Order: sequence, then structure tokens, then C-alpha cells
Amino acid sequence: MCGIVGYVGSQSALDVVMAGLKRLEYRGYDSAGVAVLADGGLATAKRAGKLVNLDKELSEHPLPSAATGIGHTRWATHGGPTDANAHPHLDNAGRVAVVHNGIIENFAPLRAELAERGHELPSETDTEVVAHLLAEEYSACADLAEAMRLVCRRLEGAFTLVAVHADAPDVVVGARRNSPLVVGVGEGEYFLASDVAAFIAHTRDAVELGQDQVVELRRDEGVSVTAFDGTPADVRSYHVDWDASAAEKAGYASFMLKEIAEQPKAVADTLLGRVDGSGTLSLDEVRIPAGVLREVDKVVVVACGTAYHAGLIAKYAIEHWTRIPCEVELASEFRYRDPILDQQTLVVAISQSGETMDTLMALRHAREQGARVLAICNTNGSTIPRESDAVLYTHAGPEVAVASTKAFLTQLVACYLVALYLGQVRGTKYGDEIGDVVRDLSGISGAVERVLGTMDPVRELARSLAHKNTVLFLGRHVGHPVALEGALKLKELAYMHAEGFAAGELKHGPIALIEEDLPVVVVVPSPRGRSILHDKIVSNIQEIRARGARTIVIAEEGDEAVVPYADHLVRVPATPTLLQPLVATVPLQVFACELATARGNEVDQPRNLAKSVTVE
Ligand code: M6R
Repeated sequence: MCGIVGYVGSQSALDVVMAGLKRLEYRGYDSAGVAVLADGGLATAKRAGKLVNLDKELSEHPLPSAATGIGHTRWATHGGPTDANAHPHLDNAGRVAVVHNGIIENFAPLRAELAERGHELPSETDTEVVAHLLAEEYSACADLAEAMRLVCRRLEGAFTLVAVHADAPDVVVGARRNSPLVVGVGEGEYFLASDVAAFIAHTRDAVELGQDQVVELRRDEGVSVTAFDGTPADVRSYHVDWDASAAEKAGYASFMLKEIAEQPKAVADTLLGRVDGSGTLSLDEVRIPAGVLREVDKVVVVACGTAYHAGLIAKYAIEHWTRIPCEVELASEFRYRDPILDQQTLVVAISQSGETMDTLMALRHAREQGARVLAICNTNGSTIPRESDAVLYTHAGPEVAVASTKAFLTQLVACYLVALYLGQVRGTKYGDEIGDVVRDLSGISGAVERVLGTMDPVRELARSLAHKNTVLFLGRHVGHPVALEGALKLKELAYMHAEGFAAGELKHGPIALIEEDLPVVVVVPSPRGRSILHDKIVSNIQEIRARGARTIVIAEEGDEAVVPYADHLVRVPATPTLLQPLVATVPLQVFACELATARGNEVDQPRNLAKSVTVE
């Protein structure tokens, strides 16, 4: 939540910062602002609403040219989305500018203290106190990094801060605690950002920052990192393995459409290099010794939103292939119920961004209790993999649209790999069985491609339902989380009442919702394999149709039993039952995207949401 950019170099700071903010707008779009250091002073501009409002303001009232600057795009926490609450925030003399992501929990006493000393704090934000405290500390030490360290030691909560001071025109300083910040290292120019996407057009060389660290960027001297107490810190540099074109729309009307289309490649890339020549799974990044994995007696998956749905599906694979009991928890609930964890518990934390605060807090709790944590993550260098015992990276490439699509499919692939790997080290799966599943997984990329090629009727159907108020989704077994995911996509994009149910639960209450012409999407499991499941859901379809529902049936090719009961039939390629979510989810993504577009909604930036949820 909130996107932050800082720059010092020789280019136009305003251009670099505004282009960076454009790339980070997915993180929040309630207001935006910039500050540049020019002519011995600070020049700022900020506007409520999306970045386009700030762009307009800047073209009407240009800022002076400058080579040092900072910027912010906001997801409001303290104080509404107004011009006054937009970042950057300044001290009363207008010499310090600060942008912030996160929440400063002790801002009220700090604010009272500053007011007592005569400071005026006109905004309603928690951020503003930092600008005032920095100004005070800087006036005593004339060193912005030291001032930042002193201030950070007084702050409680989660924060990324980036600041500039008019008296230090070649310096940008940043700090982080429990909130993301990465450094970009170019030729004589340096960047700070919430996400590498902000500077990927300029450099692919990045430096990770640890918790409670302050970074100082100096035009002539480069990057130096210290802990909040001033101790020099070790830094880890890395090279980003995707380029600027991956963060562009590439001719698609939205990032979401592009990311849906990228799924065949994302799935294939996530499988790449995971199996060696002898057919053995080799998950190099999973640095938990085989002996430890053999002792695991319980798996707990923690995640939020779409990643949680991936976890619900993982449970079926983990339990079926390894016979280890698996629980799946919403990360936001996990630590509050005092879960039973010990050294034999393996916690799997799934997160696209690697920065979701609820998931981070859950994994910290798990590690405190002695459990091992394996992260499944899409973002190199992010906090969740860094704080885990091991990581399996998904290779979806950057996911920009707020609604998760390709990340979900790759999370599923990673979950299947983890389940198979556990089966391999524990000997509950023979090599040839693992080989069979890996072969099935290898075919999924092509299957998703085929689904994508047949989506015109789904789009047409979505447009015809744009006026509806409610859509229900039903599924059984792994189809249940798919139904939940379909409903989540529709809620967040189309702002409609959409609910997913386990089809068997319907008769225990929700069937009362069925009325004439209510659209109900039903995810039908394969009639092969677990035919009992299939027969039961066909009965469920008949039950709702008898009560007037308009049935939209997602069923595999060749399943003729559903034909008489489907008002609309969406075919997906036949897959093994456990893998069906990889193909069955795709039509639901397309459906939600098209329906939301038909309702006039902006699919990449749905209202009230942000891509990366870095507050609890
Ligand atoms: O970055 P994460 O995977 O940890 O994010 C978790 C959820 O916030 C995320 O999946 C969210 O539910 C998506 N917007 C859903 O499309």
C-alpha cells in the first residue's frame, strides 16, 4: 500500500519519479505528490485522486528542473484522500519533505509533543510528524541519515520513509521497518522504491534492505546502509531477471488482460528447471534438509485473498500425495488463535508480493514457535522469502493488476511441486508417480492456451450479465476454492455481490438465495477419477435449475452428463482432478474482467484496493 520513489542522479528527477509512480500506482491511487530539490529549496506538488490529476497540476504549474526528488502514490490510512493529506509532507520551514508507506502507531503522542514545541501540523496524517522530527534532528546534526536514524528509533509501527532536505541537495535518505523498500543502482544515479518496477527502465541492479535499516544515496558517493543504531550493515545485491517491457501493457487494454494472456508462459516458467535428468524433483531453493522434512508431522498454509485460495487447493494435493495433515489458515487470523506449532510443523506462506503484512506476521509467529517456514513467492528480495527458512519462487514475472491472475496459477504449480517434493523425500510417492504428475503439469501450459483461445462466448455472456446484482459460484473438492476465487474476482472487479459455496452446502442454507434467472457458475469435477463427486454435483445443478437458476457450467471436454442442465456450457481441457483448478480458474478470470469492464469499472485499479497490503 502506497508507492514510494526517490531519485538522485543527473536526469530530470521529476521525470524519473513520475514514471516510477506510474509503475507503482497499483499500490495505491487515492492521491499522489512529488518534491524536488531545486535552487536551494524544495518545490512540491500534490493532488488528491489518481496520478493523472498530479500530472495535470504539473503541466499547469511546472516545477523547476532538478536532479534529486521523491514521490508518492497513496492508499489512505490516516486522513481521507485530500490534497492536504497527500504526501510529501513538509516541516513548517518547508526544508524537509517526507513520503511514507505504513502506519506510525505512536503518532498521536509525537504530534502532541511537537504541538507543545510550537509546530503546526495541518494534515490529518501520521506521516507529518516525521517531517517535523527530522527537521529538528537535522538542525542539531546537519546529517540527514543520522537525523533519520534518530527519528526512526522513536517511531512505533511499520514504515518505509524516504526524505530529502533542502540543505542537502545531493542526498536522498530512506528507512524501513516491516514495509518494503529497494535500492536501484545505476551509473552515477541511484533510486529508492517500494518495488523494482519503479526503476527497472533505468537499471536492473538492485540492493535489498533489511529490517530497521537506513539507506543514504549520495550522487557522488553512492549507497550506504546502516542499522537504526548507526552500525554499518551488510547489503545483498541482486540482478532483476525481467526487464521494463515486462512491466508494460504491451498493447493490451489493461494489465489484467495482459497477465491473463501470460499465464501459459508463467506456468511453464514456474516448472522450468525443477526436475533433473533422472526425473527427480530438485527444488534448489528449498534449503530445508531432507531429514527435517521427513520429520514433518503437520503442514500449515498461511496466506491471504487469492493466495489463500491457492493454499486451499494445496491442501488436497499435500494430504493426498504425502498423507501429512494439512491446515490452511487466513494469515490475518492465524496468530490470534494461538495455533499449535512445533519443530515438526512446516508452515507454507504463500504471497505474490512477499510483503503482505498479515502473512509476514503469521510467519514470524510460526518461527517464534519453532516451526520451519517455506515461502512461495513471486517477488525476489521481498520480506516474506527473506524471513523464511526457504523459498520456492514462482516465475510469473511482475503482476501489476490488483486482481491476481497469473500469480495464482503459478502459486498452484509451486504448491503442487512442494507437495510432490514432500512425497519424494518422505517416500510416499515413487519416482514414476512423480514423473507422471510432472508430465501432467507440463501439459497445463498448452491447456491454458487452449482455454484462452475459446473465451469469446464467456466474454459475451459476461457482458449480457453486467446488469445483474448477484452471481453465485459452486464447486466441490478442489472446485470449491476455484468457486471462491471466481467470486473474489467478481467482487473486487465488478463490485457485485458474488459468493462461492461448497456445492454440498447449498441445501444447508444458501439454496434459499436461488431465484428466477440468478446466474450460478458451477465448477464440475472430472467424471473420470472421482466419479462420485461428479455425480453429486450434477445433482446439485439440477436442484438449483429446478428453482430457476441460470446455470453456467464449467466442465471438461467430453463430459456429456452436464449438457442437459447447462444454460451456458464452458469447456475446459481434461486434466487429472487435482490439477483442474489450473484450467477451470481461467474462464472465471476472463468472466470477471469482462463483466467489470462492461460495468465501466477500471479493472487494473479497483476501488478501495491496493495490490500490496502492507498494513494489518
Ligand atoms: O501479495 P499477496 O499474494 O500476499 O496478496 C494477497 C492478497 O492481498 C491478494 O491475493 C488479493 O486477494 C488479490 N487482489 C486478489 O485478486
